[in-house]
Amino acid sequence: MNGPWVEKYRPQNLDDVVGQDHIIQRLKRYIKEGSMPNLMFTGPAGVGKTTTALALGKALLGEYWRQNFLELNASDARGIDTVRHNIKNFCRLKAVGSPFRIVFLDEVDNMTKDAQHALRREMEMYTKTASFILSCNYSSKIIDPIQSRCAIFRFTPVKGHQIIKRLEVIAEAEKIKVTLNALESIVYFAEGDMRRAVNILQTSSSVGEEITEENVQEVVSKAKPQDVRKIINKALDGDFLDARDLLREVMVVQGISGEDLVTQIYQEVSRMAREGLLGKEVYVDLIENIGTYDYRIREGSNPRIQLEALLTKFLFKANAK
Ligand SMILES: Nc1ncnc2c1ncn2[C@@H]1O[C@H](COP(=O)(O)OP(=O)(O)OP(=O)(O)O)[C@@H](O)[C@H]1O
Ligand SMILES: [Mg+2]
Repeated sequence: MNGPWVEKYRPQNLDDVVGQDHIIQRLKRYIKEGSMPNLMFTGPAGVGKTTTALALGKALLGEYWRQNFLELNASDARGIDTVRHNIKNFCRLKAVGSPFRIVFLDEVDNMTKDAQHALRREMEMYTKTASFILSCNYSSKIIDPIQSRCAIFRFTPVKGHQIIKRLEVIAEAEKIKVTLNALESIVYFAEGDMRRAVNILQTSSSVGEEITEENVQEVVSKAKPQDVRKIINKALDGDFLDARDLLREVMVVQGISGEDLVTQIYQEVSRMAREGLLGKEVYVDLIENIGTYDYRIREGSNPRIQLEALLTKFLFKANAK
């Protein structure tokens, strides 16, 4: 195996970025015009923000893009002053070989408000030489004066069928076989995060000749969806002790964390509702309870006790299915 597949198969141009179609179309207009305003990319992890920024940079800056593209991480361990120092040094110089320069600043939502205000002044100072692409998970954490200076692009989780298509391309290039069930299982665990999907594919590939659903489940430290559903169904039927035993087995023997498990219970309950296996009122009631217990677990309460308490809320709801 030669290096991580997420890097090996990082799309090099905008056309290869999967999903995010609206965004790609809008960005292509900038390429046509040969210029771009300051941009802000927001959205969850692993959906193509950095990839898109790099591809856009290459398309706009041409052959000399490397010299004219600066990639920085706002949560650089050496501190925000180093980041700003690098921005200043880079923006002071005019672009050579390209029409302008681009600063790509990642994790801007980790910057303090003060640092963001300073960044905003820098963005204004260097409008002639450089354009900025700011990337963050939550745009709500960015101060208004920065938001209003940027064209905002909201990246969305990658859809299941798009993930499967991309994984098939990679599997073919790597000459490995993957069953459809395995692909669907990867989609389930990836939750729209393409980076995670590609990583799961690579890790499962070292297990056997053909990747099966079991291989995928072995490398992912999450509960099997079937087990989660069993726990839920037992509780709904009123078999509290059986539900609790299985819950313990998953948490203690398989070592699944409370946070992961409550998220999986949420996913599974939502799926059951979509499949028509839960009535609307029961579903609403369960979601409300899952929200409460999720919060308690994340605040540090004993996850096993909290999850068992959550199960009591499921009891005897089966006839309302
Ligand atoms: N839309 C996509 N199409 C194809 N591959 C993708 C896409 N999104 C992510 N990937 C794959 O996942 C890897 C990581 O993606 P990227 O660095 O663009 O994520 P990101 O959105 O910047 O995430 P983060 O918020 O964690 O920085 C890429 O190298 C690529 O292999
Ligand atoms: Mg990124």
